Amino acid sequence: MGNQLEGKSILTLLDLTPEEIRFLLDEAKDFKKNRERYIQSQPLKGKTLGMIFQKRSTRTRVSTETAMAELGGHALFLGKDDIQLGVNESLSDTAIVLGRMVSAVLARVFDHETVETLAKHANVPVINALSDQFHPLQGLADILTIEEHLGKLNNVNLAWIGDGNNVCHTLMIASIKMGMKMSVGTPIDYMPDNSVIEYCNSNASFSEQITVTNDPIAAVTDADVVVTDTFISMGQETETKMKLKKFDGFQVNQDLVKHASKDYIFMHCLPRHKEEVADDIIYGAHSVVFDEAENRLHTVAAVLNSIIQK
Ligand code: CP
Ligand code: NVA
Repeated sequence: MGNQLEGKSILTLLDLTPEEIRFLLDEAKDFKKNRERYIQSQPLKGKTLGMIFQKRSTRTRVSTETAMAELGGHALFLGKDDIQLGVNESLSDTAIVLGRMVSAVLARVFDHETVETLAKHANVPVINALSDQFHPLQGLADILTIEEHLGKLNNVNLAWIGDGNNVCHTLMIASIKMGMKMSVGTPIDYMPDNSVIEYCNSNASFSEQITVTNDPIAAVTDADVVVTDTFISMGQETETKMKLKKFDGFQVNQDLVKHASKDYIFMHCLPRHKEEVADDIIYGAHSVVFDEAENRLHTVAAVLNSIIQK
């Protein structure tokens, strides 16, 4: 498949077909292998990306700014106190104005609706750089990492342990699109959103492709990939005390991973806290978290080079 993504917004992985995801993974591998060639050819010369961040970021900001620079373009950082983001101006007006100036917009937001409004009005492609519901750029880096380490995506057994959050939703959709089997283990009050579970149930290509349980051992049993994330996502800080109590028993540690496949890999989008994963797992022999972090650069480069209109 050639590039059919020019001009397209990516708010969730639902916006991409399996073929488009395959295309982006292959483009990311090409960028990773031939980075110097892209730096020389400057395919995004003269293009500017507006980057709105309502929340903190290390990986997303650094990977995106680096990718834009290496592809010959310019990234404009717009922090939450820098622009009129729904404070002194409507969000739709901000979106229209940005779209008259920049080639694409990337936004990290609290409410998913904010990226939807930006995409509706900007008239240029919009990329969701994390919302309360989804984190598609993380999902692309994660499946690239799985494919690199396990040599395939189809029929891989993925176990998610922890919060049924934005990254979990994204991997559930990725599993449906790319043929992985995913077992989600969360406390009863923190299961994935019903809308995502319903999407998975209606689109599964084999029975029990996605299972949701409140038993972390059941979720991790025979897993090829064990994934977790912070129990306290950005914006949930006031819930910390209550959540930590409810997540008791959901830490990824040696006791839990003894139920996984012998050669399992451990993944975490980072930043990491000790409550969700023990030191000897995240820094242990099965962990691929820093490959996963590096792949944020290669995948966002593929996304930017594909969606920005030349
Ligand atoms: N994984 C991730 O999105 O990291 P940042 O919050 O540092 O961007
Ligand atoms: N679920 C986390 C991911 C951070 C990259 C959050 O939303 O804060």
